[in-house]
Amino acid sequence: MGRGLFITLEGIDGTGKSTQLRLLAQHLKKRGLTVRVTREPGGTGVGERIRKILLASSTRRLSPLAELVLMYAARAQHLEEVIRPSLERGEIVLSDRYNDASLAYQGYGRKLGVETVRAFDRIICGDTQPDLTLLLDLPPRLSLRRARARQSRRNSKQERFERQGVEFHRRVRRGYLEIARLEPQRVKLVRAGGAVAEIQAQIRKLVDNFLAGRRKRPLTHPATAGDNVGAVHPLPKGEGW
Ligand code: TMP
Repeated sequence: MGRGLFITLEGIDGTGKSTQLRLLAQHLKKRGLTVRVTREPGGTGVGERIRKILLASSTRRLSPLAELVLMYAARAQHLEEVIRPSLERGEIVLSDRYNDASLAYQGYGRKLGVETVRAFDRIICGDTQPDLTLLLDLPPRLSLRRARARQSRRNSKQERFERQGVEFHRRVRRGYLEIARLEPQRVKLVRAGGAVAEIQAQIRKLVDNFLAGRRKRPLTHPATAGDNVGAVHPLPKGEGW
């Protein structure tokens, strides 16, 4: 991985993730940083076409494994066209979802299991792992209500994943919380139940602290970085995250 920084936003449907991502991008740009905002599935021409297949409610009988492979096909394209070149240029890549979503949705939600997802991840993502992940957390009962309200405001149909019941989203949330538990250095939990401005304040504090921590840290040669690049950038002591 180059000298850039890879930040991802994650969470179950309806946590207000995309709004928060937009506001965070504004904040970082104001600080004079070069930010590449992107999303998954999507972020490239091919990826956006795959996204349509994955999200359309008219897509029926897609097997869980086919779903996983399509997610990783879009991701492979995204890595090659957008993420790796941006990181090489030293930019901040800010992505609305990345590989934790596959672990949570396909691994836990669809019950494909962690090992199956990780096998794809090793091949496709390799050591291009997020440095910092903000996990917006909300109980599915609330988040799905929000997602459905948003759909009806836009007069649009519910998408494939939003149609899944509360039980599915509970499993996905459990998956996300498990990832956060296993990687507390990288994954920061954001309580997403409050007002937009209040949630954004939490996020900005986390990101600003992270950036300050990186400035203090001596540069690590990429060759010495392990699978989880975030793990080789420990936070300075005393940062109350
Ligand atoms: P969103 O971009 O509106 O958040 O929607 C993308 C949907 O795709 C969301 O329901 C989560 C799902 N998804 C997966 O199931 N696996 C993945 O790897 C990714 C990136 C998204």
